[in-house]
Amino acid sequence: MSSTTMLDPLAIGADVWWLRESDVGAFGAAVGLERVLTPDELDRCDRLKQDGARRRYLGARLLSRCALSRYVNVPPSHWTFRKGEFGRPEIEGENYGLDFNITHTEGMIATVVARDRMCGLDVEHRPIRPEAARLAPKVLAPPELAFVRMLPGELRRCLFADLWVAKEAYTKALGMGLCRPFDTFGTRRKDDGTLDLVDPTLPEAERARWQMEVFRIADGITAGVAIRKLHGEAGRVPLWLHDAMAELLPVPVEPLGGGP
Ligand SMILES: CC(C)(COP(=O)(O)OP(=O)(O)OC[C@H]1O[C@@H](n2cnc3c(N)ncnc32)[C@H](O)[C@@H]1OP(=O)(O)O)[C@@H](O)C(=O)NCCC(=O)NCCS
Repeated sequence: MSSTTMLDPLAIGADVWWLRESDVGAFGAAVGLERVLTPDELDRCDRLKQDGARRRYLGARLLSRCALSRYVNVPPSHWTFRKGEFGRPEIEGENYGLDFNITHTEGMIATVVARDRMCGLDVEHRPIRPEAARLAPKVLAPPELAFVRMLPGELRRCLFADLWVAKEAYTKALGMGLCRPFDTFGTRRKDDGTLDLVDPTLPEAERARWQMEVFRIADGITAGVAIRKLHGEAGRVPLWLHDAMAELLPVPVEPLGGGP
């Protein structure tokens, strides 16, 4: 790896940052919640009735702002965002080529950041809840459904969770989210553990640019990432997983020794 790529991981790959919901209070206190978030964001948070929803909303704003500021010299509070056609938050104004996507589920908040590559992220509990598992016939393409149905109870819900996050990561990277029907495209597992996209609406060259992966963020939480590779980029784009509490908080400055 060259010194440029060591300093700039987004030159060759993408970063996924995660924050436990239980750490949102400590994270907010450490980065200065009121300084980082806009009055609108704070107001919207106050209007949320449920504690968990409030924590996840706050965590998602703090995490995405602080993560984006790791790559360019823009303070976390200075980012402004607009929404795409289907509600996907995107950086407004100068974006330095950065793309990002937020996801949260009970207990976990995460964001993916990439440069010059479209990206999407989804997290879910694994195994997926039995109520959600009933959606399988609507969400899975026929070969995926046939494979899932061969598995027994809990394993079936684990595989379904993995397929769900991979597929939603792709539609979130496209900015469509659930507006793109999930049974119109599928995935096929490759030998290197990543997934091939099977999307009949795309020409082969475009389909081959998509990299989809599933990994565990923490016990019981599965994550799907979709990255659109650069034109002509061969091989797997590396993804790095970062614990926001360990890697994003300001480092306390120790006084230098030798003073009075
Ligand atoms: C966004 C959506 C995929 C969320 O699904 P989910 O599994 O509950 O949520 P996740 O935690 O993975 O993602 C939520 C985050 O995705 C982002 N997001 C919102 N709309 C998005 C979109 N169209 N594409 C990609 N990301 C989107 C937001 O950052 C959101 O978090 P925030 O509201 O705290 O900012 C889903 O609500 C959706 O498709 N919305 C589009 C508009 C809609 O509701 N259409 C109805 C069907 S056409």
